[in-house]
Amino acid sequence: MSNVLIIESSARQQGSFSRQLTRQFISQWQAARPADQVTVRDLALNPVPHLDANLLGGWMKPEAQRSADEQASLKRSDELTDEVLGADVLVLAAPMYNFAIPSTLKAWLDHVLRAGVTFKYTETGPQGLLTGKKAYVLTARGGLYAGSTSDHQEPYLRQVLAFIGIHDVTFIHAEGLNLGGDFQEKGLNQAKARLTAIA
Ligand SMILES: Cc1cc2nc3c(=O)[nH]c(=O)nc-3n(C[C@H](O)[C@H](O)[C@H](O)COP(=O)(O)O)c2cc1C
Repeated sequence: MSNVLIIESSARQQGSFSRQLTRQFISQWQAARPADQVTVRDLALNPVPHLDANLLGGWMKPEAQRSADEQASLKRSDELTDEVLGADVLVLAAPMYNFAIPSTLKAWLDHVLRAGVTFKYTETGPQGLLTGKKAYVLTARGGLYAGSTSDHQEPYLRQVLAFIGIHDVTFIHAEGLNLGGDFQEKGLNQAKARLTAIA
């Protein structure tokens, strides 16, 4: 049995294309592997806090020196790292907002990239600790960016995922969703067909 962790980050619940892709992903996954555990964390419904002095204090101080606020912040952050550590498969649903990922997803990554937990520093440089995991990134974009230098989602997410040890990453982009004409239908259908193909 595998654990699948889905991270939703579209600000909208209705009309979201990235959520359409995660819905298809989940139903395909459950049909093929009914015993697997699928967990959905919705960063729009339950945003995680930005890094602040309490959390950094909690991270850096030994337990005995942590204030009650620092302990509480650390506990909340540990829930996020524990969830990722326990996942075999990670699915990030990412709308493109202003050429990049939603700030809610960036805030989540700021919790999840944690020294000593998901990566460590070694004499030969940082080493990712989340080995043996697979990731899928499902994006939704108003325009067309795949393969261009204006795509600040895929290179960035590949880098942060590799940094924590996840190198097996498949991107599926639904593009051209706001371009008018038949771009939306084509972009969505292409992404859905790729999802079907990897089922
Ligand atoms: C605040 C905001 C910023 C956006 N910025 C971009 C952008 O930089 N490039 C782009 O192609 N589309 C952009 N879009 C369009 C979204 O990527 C597109 O509507 C996508 O479908 C959103 O994902 P969702 O359908 O899952 O909500 C933006 C949309 C919003 C709401």
